Amino acid sequence: MKHFTSVHDIGNLQAALAEAVEIKNDRFKYVELGRNKTLLMVFFNSSLRTRLSTQKAAMNLGMNVIVLDINQGAWKLETERGVVMDGDKSEHILEAIPVMGCYCDVIGVRSFARFESREFDYQETILNQFIQYSGRPVFSMEAATGHPLQSFADLITIEEYKKTARPKVVLTWAPHPKPLPQAVPNSFAEWMNAAGYDLVITHPEGYELDKKFTGNAPIEYDQMKAFAGADFVYAKSWAAYEGDYGGILSTDRSWTVSDRQMAVTNNAYFMHCLPVRRNMIVTDEVIESPQSIVIPEAANREISATVVLKHLLG
Ligand code: CP
Repeated sequence: MKHFTSVHDIGNLQAALAEAVEIKNDRFKYVELGRNKTLLMVFFNSSLRTRLSTQKAAMNLGMNVIVLDINQGAWKLETERGVVMDGDKSEHILEAIPVMGCYCDVIGVRSFARFESREFDYQETILNQFIQYSGRPVFSMEAATGHPLQSFADLITIEEYKKTARPKVVLTWAPHPKPLPQAVPNSFAEWMNAAGYDLVITHPEGYELDKKFTGNAPIEYDQMKAFAGADFVYAKSWAAYEGDYGGILSTDRSWTVSDRQMAVTNNAYFMHCLPVRRNMIVTDEVIESPQSIVIPEAANREISATVVLKHLLG
């Protein structure tokens, strides 16, 4: 694997899942693979899980780790070419990226959608600049349009908990006070489709995602209908993709996942990538219930990251 930015980079999904099981059984099996290799993690945005789980994954493989928080202590970076740099940005990303590449063997990048331009976000401008100019294998630690490390962990988790070969998985929009990127739902849909699960997407009208990611997954505007018989419920808020890109179209709290919706499922497991705003996305009762698997889901971030780093080192 040269770079990791989507499900298409992981190769055979069943083989990757088998590797996840192997690594979960013996996290340090490949500890020699990363000896004298350095991972650089570059964060343009905040993180808890990605930061900790990816660093742990690198340690599982014997790597050294450097973390760079672009907004804390680094020079402010200009990302547009052709700009007269007479403002507060001291360095251009086109010099910064190859310099970063000098000090490491693999680079992870977190760079969220900015919602200034759908074209800029959906071209994955920042991530692709790292791929083009760093001279190193690059992986997404959540970019503008995808969060494949999260979705791989989600898939590992569903494989661990599923009771039927092809479970019904419902991706539901939920309200949030801020407009959030589509990266997590985009990737989740893409990975669930690749796994061949029975994926249903539910959201208020206007929140349609890019078909490039959702494929032929049915959309159900009635959340209760969508939840009927579900084996897994995956909640996430996202801002509009079509029309008013980045806009909040609904604040309807009846979409908050509660016991009311969970009652019509097939005793579904509740999932969320975290961080989650309680009683906006999901009620205290549901997230604290025995059916909530958000913590094992987060724990599997270490496993997905270890598999991906192993491929990149290999
Ligand atoms: N799920 C996830 O990526 O969490 P962080 O934003 O805390 O890394």
